[in-house]
Amino acid sequence: MASRLFDEKKLVIASHNPGKVREIGELLAPFQVEVVSAGDLSLPEPVEDGETFTDNAKIKAVAAAAAANLPALADDSGLCVHGLNDQPGVYSARWAGPTKDFGVAMQKVEQALVAAEKNDEACEVDRGAHFACALTLAWPDGHTESFEGQVQGTMAWPPTGSKGFGYDPVFVPEGHDQTFAEMEPEQKHAMSHRANAFQKLVEACFEAP
Ligand code: IMP
Repeated sequence: MASRLFDEKKLVIASHNPGKVREIGELLAPFQVEVVSAGDLSLPEPVEDGETFTDNAKIKAVAAAAAANLPALADDSGLCVHGLNDQPGVYSARWAGPTKDFGVAMQKVEQALVAAEKNDEACEVDRGAHFACALTLAWPDGHTESFEGQVQGTMAWPPTGSKGFGYDPVFVPEGHDQTFAEMEPEQKHAMSHRANAFQKLVEACFEAP
């Protein structure tokens, strides 16, 4: 079945994460859409108890669309480290603890990799990783459209760079020698998991700008 076209003038970004709100706002900039964030509207944060990125993106988008009576776009995303069985995955935000300290979260990932290396006879633990992103667009009538994107890369240590957010300082995308946090936003948007999912969303649901 064809995806539903988005032809409304206003959209809620169903996130309280300033890094995500900024990046999604930048991706939406070429489209004639007035954007307001869940934080601006003081919408409550729903419990993200899904097992997959798409489950959680749907929970957030449906809740925001119902609460605001406007279409809402939610992102659920995370870092999947291959040598750690794709952890932290859907728990990426939770690894930063209640104070949302991603210095702590990055350290935890590095410590888990070092511990895995100690337990591995050949000391060979896969430092490959990918970021995954699910985007769900929900309408107030409950209809949803969901899209997934990924970017492959490698875990770096120590953290480098001050741009971006979250785990960006320890992720070097494939074919590059800088972390996402060392890149300009446009460079990250040319290859990121979020941009990849956004491209699919735009192709399915938006008229060309
Ligand atoms: P959630 O989708 O709200 O559960 O949070 C996902 C978490 O994954 C974020 O808080 C970030 O720490 C991490 N994450 C998702 N996308 C990115 C990204 O583009 N760069 C760095 N970290 C990210």
